[in-house]
Amino acid sequence: MAKIPPHIIDEIMQTARIEEVIGEFVQLKKAGSNFKGLSPFTDEKTPSFSVSPAKQIFKCFSSGKGGSVVTFLMEKEHFSYPEALRWLADKYNIVIPEEKPATAEELAKISEKESLFIINDFAKKYFVDQMHDSEEGQAIGLSYFEERGFRPDIIKKFELGYCPNKGDAFTTSAMEAGYNLNYLETTGLVKTKDDRHFDFFRGRVMFPIHSTSGRVLGFGGRTLVTDKKVAKYFNSPESPIYHKSDILYGLYFAKGDIIKYDNCYLCEGYTDVISLHQAGLQNVVASSGTALTREQIRLIRRFTQNITILYDGDAAGIKASFRGIDLILEEGMSVKVVLFPEGEDPDSFAKSHSSTELDNYLKEHTQDFVTFKTEILLSDSQNDPLKKAELIREVVQSVALIPDAITRNVYIQEVATLFEMEEALIATEVSKKRSGALEKNFEREKKQVSPESVSAATNPFAPKASSTNPNVKAKQNQYSHGEYALIRVLIKYGTFAIHTKHINEEGKEEEIETSVTELICHELDKDELSFSYPLFQKIHRIFLEGIEENTLFEPSYFLRNEDQELVRFVSEVIGDDHELSPNWLTLHKLYTPSEKDKIPQLVIDEIYHFKRSKIEERIQEIRKLLETVDPSDEDQFNDLLGEQVFLDRVKSTLAKQLNRILL
Ligand code: CTP
Ligand code: MN
Repeated sequence: MAKIPPHIIDEIMQTARIEEVIGEFVQLKKAGSNFKGLSPFTDEKTPSFSVSPAKQIFKCFSSGKGGSVVTFLMEKEHFSYPEALRWLADKYNIVIPEEKPATAEELAKISEKESLFIINDFAKKYFVDQMHDSEEGQAIGLSYFEERGFRPDIIKKFELGYCPNKGDAFTTSAMEAGYNLNYLETTGLVKTKDDRHFDFFRGRVMFPIHSTSGRVLGFGGRTLVTDKKVAKYFNSPESPIYHKSDILYGLYFAKGDIIKYDNCYLCEGYTDVISLHQAGLQNVVASSGTALTREQIRLIRRFTQNITILYDGDAAGIKASFRGIDLILEEGMSVKVVLFPEGEDPDSFAKSHSSTELDNYLKEHTQDFVTFKTEILLSDSQNDPLKKAELIREVVQSVALIPDAITRNVYIQEVATLFEMEEALIATEVSKKRSGALEKNFEREKKQVSPESVSAATNPFAPKASSTNPNVKAKQNQYSHGEYALIRVLIKYGTFAIHTKHINEEGKEEEIETSVTELICHELDKDELSFSYPLFQKIHRIFLEGIEENTLFEPSYFLRNEDQELVRFVSEVIGDDHELSPNWLTLHKLYTPSEKDKIPQLVIDEIYHFKRSKIEERIQEIRKLLETVDPSDEDQFNDLLGEQVFLDRVKSTLAKQLNRILL
């Protein structure tokens, strides 16, 4: 992948709204000028997760995490920096020009994907138009959906359509519109046999399958003939944009309500999703008749930790689905189950009942998965002891997958009761299974240790940095309070103008206007001082580069940096003004809210503290050296003594000197 050009990073960061993005993952409520919600990183019951739209930062007071919209995506979705930016670009329709793709092959791949999307979009519109505007479409396609009871608004929302039965109607239109035959074949919309091209979906009603952001990845086409030899559904073949195993039908329309209700209903078919939507249940997606995959589960997990599976009453596939469901448990998510009455699927049930009845049915018939699985298997074993033993192992196997110990124990108790067995026995079996599984996981993790995860573990801001008091922080980390206070002022007020006095060459006093950035950088440069803490050095360097290019940086400039440790630090500094934390005032009494009025004095004070602590450090160093140095080495001894005297004098005049700068 080509690098994302800096001006595009700027555009992404300026367009993205942190409250919108986080709102896709967390239920946010307005609280003053901020939004609050339950932390997506911990299991908290009272909201301590805060988002500031004005500053475009978030802060999680229970995990200590914080930063920009990119930091959030990297933490929540485990994206890399470019992945997070690309996700945002996709959401906000910002095109990332692929400057110099590494290879021609890569370039071809990118343009191929884009072409396939464009063709699918054309096809979707074509099928919709055909259904509504052609005689055949209305008589066959539209009337089919109407007979099934789909409302016009629902037909429109899901962009349902019809592919004419003529044989090559779509192919001809697409070729006339100038689409490349190769790409048409790759999407599967056009088939070629003996040099003749025809429509793969001819005579079928069409269900476009949308990506999470609403682009058409492929289609399902349902036949209208009732012939057992004809497959009921045709689906788009695998292609660079259609990967069956990581698609969930309906997710694009469901994601808002999945977050809102913190639950995702999972069913099997296109028509189940559509009918449930029509009945007002919108947090529902379909696996499209395949066994659930890990990729699909992870898609859901972006929006909720809770899945409720809707089973047809007579689904022979219930047992076959158990393996897929174990995957959900393994991901640490909660799985519940609703079994519909015999002979009914979600589609038929939604049609034959009112919305309230549907709602009540779901409420009354939701069971947790482990209990459900046990009951199904128990009814199979019919008191055959051998079968029963086998079945206990089956269930224990599922329970062992649950990562959270408390949840696991709840199930152990539950299973023991259902089987009328000793809890301890079940618990032992579970831990046996677990130690086997854990070893496997450990091996897997060992292979996955990446530089990022190491730096995250040692990142001084990430864990437990819940205190906003810089004194506390200074102790937790390897930087002094003086360094923290100065870098903070530099970040927060770097662009502010400051009027200072200056003695010119003729010995006359003159007033000059400069920026806080320039004043601080100049003062440090003059005494050849710098920060010792590496992160602060890096920030200092960015400011120095800015000065060279005549640019002063606003705090928000740093939020787009690739280094998330830096972003997290800067966002803490920006957020540190009693808006983000309700108990800020009690934690941190160093500065008053009207700090802004006193910027010049504040800047001078912090330069003073910084310099003074550097001098102090050096004096301590000299004292130690004087103790160890050989007194007969007079040169070195005198040098050190000389420096000490000099530093002592600087120390005593430092305050006066600095204050003289101020007007
Ligand atoms: N499916 C498929 N190919 C088939 C049959 C089914 O891909 N030949 C997939 C489709 O995604 C379908 C899902 O499996 O939506 C569930 O199958 P089924 O319940 O038979 O279809 P419904 O969606 O319920 O369709 P209908 O109500 O029109 O029968
Ligand atoms: Mn059906």
